[in-house]
Amino acid sequence: MLTEPERREIAELIGQYETTRAVIPEALQVVQRQRGWVSDDAITEVAGVLELTPDEVDSIATFYNLIFRRPVGRHMLLVCNSVSCWIMGYPSLRDYLTAKLGIALGETTADGRFTLLPTVCLGACDHAPAMLLDDELYGDLTPEKIDEILAQYL
Ligand code: FES
Repeated sequence: MLTEPERREIAELIGQYETTRAVIPEALQVVQRQRGWVSDDAITEVAGVLELTPDEVDSIATFYNLIFRRPVGRHMLLVCNSVSCWIMGYPSLRDYLTAKLGIALGETTADGRFTLLPTVCLGACDHAPAMLLDDELYGDLTPEKIDEILAQYL
């Protein structure tokens, strides 16, 4: 169930856009900021606030790969697989991360610590290969650097 502050925040967004459909991405971010992901119930409730159908909201939610439709770990690890990072070692970096964390791309570690996802260019091509861990951007990655970085996220 949406909290009152969530409802209020979403309602306040309505006047800022030409259509209620245009509000959907930001409304979903309001929910995700509070809960970490967006459940089916939240989709239905956001649709109610925006006077849209749940299908309309869900179609936007599933379009954006950074709107999470199932529970995720405490830390989101997005590893760039676009061209510069690919050339600079993404495949071996991906293999290192999946082996170290014991998960495949798209999965969450058993302790709920990390969810690992591929992502498009992070705008750090001059420091490829790069990844985003929560809100921190890391570049020039090596296995040793990854070990140091992950150790900081408990
Ligand atoms: Fe990876 Fe641009 S291609 S940061």
